Amino acid sequence: MNFFGYRGGHLFVEKVSIASIAESVGTPFFCYSSSSLEHQYLELKHALDPMGVRICYAVKANSNQAVIKTFANLGSGADIVSKGELIRALDAGITPDKIVFSGVGKTRDEIRHALEVGVGQFNIESPSELELISNIAQELKKTATVALRVNPDVDAQTHDKISTGRKADKFGIDIDLAPALYTQAAQMPGINMVGLALHIGSQLTSLTPFRDAFERIAILVQDLRAAGASVKRLDLGGGLGVTYTTENPPDIEDYAQTIRSTVSSLKVELTVEPGRFLVANAGILVARVLFIKNTPVQRFVIVDGAMNDFIRPTLYNAVHDVLTEKKDANCKLSSAQVVGPVCETGDILAKAANLPPIEPGALIAIASAGAYGAVMGSTYNTRLPTLEVMVREAMTAVIRPRPTYEDILSLDQLPNWL
Ligand code: LLP
Repeated sequence: MNFFGYRGGHLFVEKVSIASIAESVGTPFFCYSSSSLEHQYLELKHALDPMGVRICYAVKANSNQAVIKTFANLGSGADIVSKGELIRALDAGITPDKIVFSGVGKTRDEIRHALEVGVGQFNIESPSELELISNIAQELKKTATVALRVNPDVDAQTHDKISTGRKADKFGIDIDLAPALYTQAAQMPGINMVGLALHIGSQLTSLTPFRDAFERIAILVQDLRAAGASVKRLDLGGGLGVTYTTENPPDIEDYAQTIRSTVSSLKVELTVEPGRFLVANAGILVARVLFIKNTPVQRFVIVDGAMNDFIRPTLYNAVHDVLTEKKDANCKLSSAQVVGPVCETGDILAKAANLPPIEPGALIAIASAGAYGAVMGSTYNTRLPTLEVMVREAMTAVIRPRPTYEDILSLDQLPNWL
């Protein structure tokens, strides 16, 4: 279901025109559809509820408080990877017992804080991390609930930079080494070993790697149990892909069926950690055309949004659709490169968009920018952080205002010798 579409030739989000938002808040800005977020969550919940699978939203995909709260209100838990994300999740109303603390490099301070607030589960990724958690838990006279993240050596068949389950990747404990560490962990003071976790990568468009990984971890559960260990929980990670342009990601019911056929008979409490699936297609990045520059080889559409606002095309060569605010079915489309003002050749939002004739002052939107958009933004070139808006039917709310230049400069301090 698409909550972005044209009415009378103009781009709308739900019942609000993009042009009217741009008029009131300026450009560039991210715009999220609240109904779309809700729709995605409920679709996933509907497919997974019969198996009792808990959804822990991977906050890293979009950590605006309004987005986290939208999911919290629907009953979601959270997958977090830092103290900052933990603070966000709690502040948005997610109770600690529904929070999973993932990540390969947790600091002493982060572990201490997570134990103090009582997070529901730590997914650990190395023997030294396990030891540190055990020590801090003892200091605090607490027990840490722990799952061991396994590296199942499965290629997720996605972009190299977002593949996490291959033997050579930094994530998880090698599946062959997992049984020994699990048994050892189960005896450590301050540790309550409850199960296993995995996450093999992001933007998976085939179920095969999921199935391979789930089958491998199911065997591991059986082996551990045969050796006398207790395995009560299984965290299957995130990774479900979405359609950006022509991708054909798995149907959500088929994803659920893959879970059913591989691990549901193990009688474990199941969790998933989706990020992108819940938010990617619920957001767009709106920018205004500054100039058109025609060169002998290219039509450049120079806009006021840039790689600091949205880095996916630069970082992963990601291809996102470009929508024009005005749509006229009679206009001829031709190739254009949509670029920003940042002083790097890689500052490209769309390498080969198919656009109608377009003039300075017009608005364009980068589609499917709700996941890993605003959260990966920076102030490179001393550009201001991107404003964010959420729309619900006819209501519009700024959910992150644009800071001022004074705000940005106030973060710096001069040394006393200058
Ligand atoms: N769980 C863990 C442990 C993760 O590391 C991630 C994402 C997720 C869950 C959520 O994965 P998702 O359902 O969103 O695929 N910046 C990249 C994506 C990085 C993903 C990092 N980990 C991009 O823009 O494609």
